Amino acid sequence: MKSAVSFLGAFVALVRLAASEAVVGKADGFAYGVTGGGNASPDYPADITELKSMLTDNVPRVIVLKKTYDFTQSEGTIVGNVCLSWGAGHSCQQIIQKDCGDTPSMMAKWWKAPTIPIDVASHKTILGVGNKGVIRGKGLRFTNGATNIIVQNIQIADLNNKYVWGGDAIGFTNSSKIWIDHVTTHNPGRQHYVFGFEPSTGITLSNNFINGNSTYSTSCDNYHYWNFEMVGTDDQITLKNNYMYRTAGRAPALSGGTLLHAVNNVWSDNGGHVLEGGDTKARGIFEGNVFTDINSMIADYAGRLFGTPAGSESKCKSALGRNCQTNSYKQASGSLNAYTDTSFFGDFAGLHIAGAVSASEAASSVPKNAGAGIIDVSV
Ligand SMILES: *[C@@H]1O[C@H](CO)[C@@H](O)[C@H](O)[C@H]1NC(C)=O
Ligand SMILES: *[C@@H]1O[C@H](CO)[C@@H](O)[C@H](O)[C@H]1NC(C)=O
Repeated sequence: MKSAVSFLGAFVALVRLAASEAVVGKADGFAYGVTGGGNASPDYPADITELKSMLTDNVPRVIVLKKTYDFTQSEGTIVGNVCLSWGAGHSCQQIIQKDCGDTPSMMAKWWKAPTIPIDVASHKTILGVGNKGVIRGKGLRFTNGATNIIVQNIQIADLNNKYVWGGDAIGFTNSSKIWIDHVTTHNPGRQHYVFGFEPSTGITLSNNFINGNSTYSTSCDNYHYWNFEMVGTDDQITLKNNYMYRTAGRAPALSGGTLLHAVNNVWSDNGGHVLEGGDTKARGIFEGNVFTDINSMIADYAGRLFGTPAGSESKCKSALGRNCQTNSYKQASGSLNAYTDTSFFGDFAGLHIAGAVSASEAASSVPKNAGAGIIDVSV
């Protein structure tokens, strides 16, 4: 009897300990080794003010979101000029801009808060519980040398989505070792992910849901144009297991001096184009990806690229230490098969390389596993 009671006591203690949250898995690819706030005991911000202060102070933290933090109205409104560049239709985006030239324009009002992101400080983990961790009307940015940050299982949504320049969901410029995992972004004004000119290295974007089904868009048809702007002068980005739904452009814009490894992502229902990028210094390997229902694969691309046409898989060994997986195309106009440049493969030396499965495995696993609300961060 006595031993049964003490067993029960130990069990209760275990259960109490278990009421906590922790990061699920580890970063694969360039952000490998990131620890964020490490094993700091969780903080549960009470409101938007506390969330902002916990994200920006210089204390390593594990910040757990169990509810919606709505910043939308918190900084008031801005009144200004907008250009009706894609018409005045109900679902057309407009551009916040002082001078529209010959383009019709009008005065409009938008929220201030989404136009100014929170600059997250180093050594933070931001974790959402279930599908409850939501930030509305405010983006997160990693800059000024910010390093060692994990964001997992949250949603960032609704940043003046009617207006280009209304707000980006997630931004990087001058940052390192950042892992964004199982994050859903929806209805930003401009980019889902934006990289500024100052180098961001050791970045992994994995298992994210880029929901481009937007209320307002540049084509007035609910397909979001502004998805991944990669223009950093010397960035390293692993893009793995992400689900890009209803995009229309910049998916990605692979430009600047970016080094990209795009592996096992799924693009589904694209209404414009996937790849673009005007700079010759951009470099990318695309392998094991799935392109389904794609209006156009490439708008213009000036950089170097390896698109893994069938028969070329073994060429990747010098870059990745293993064979590449071929990409799969279904109802896609165009492909990346003409891109066979391997001249930049030495640039992967010393970087942690993400693993790959076949495109057909990615096709069945990625759409149902991407985004917030899928994994369980409670332990
Ligand atoms: C990055 O940020 C750090 C810290 O603020 C600063 O010292 C450095 O000059 C910045 N680097 C660039 C390229 O701007
Ligand atoms: C897109 O979003 C709208 C508004 O939330 C929704 O009614 C519609 O079903 C969505 N369409 C698709 C194809 O996901």
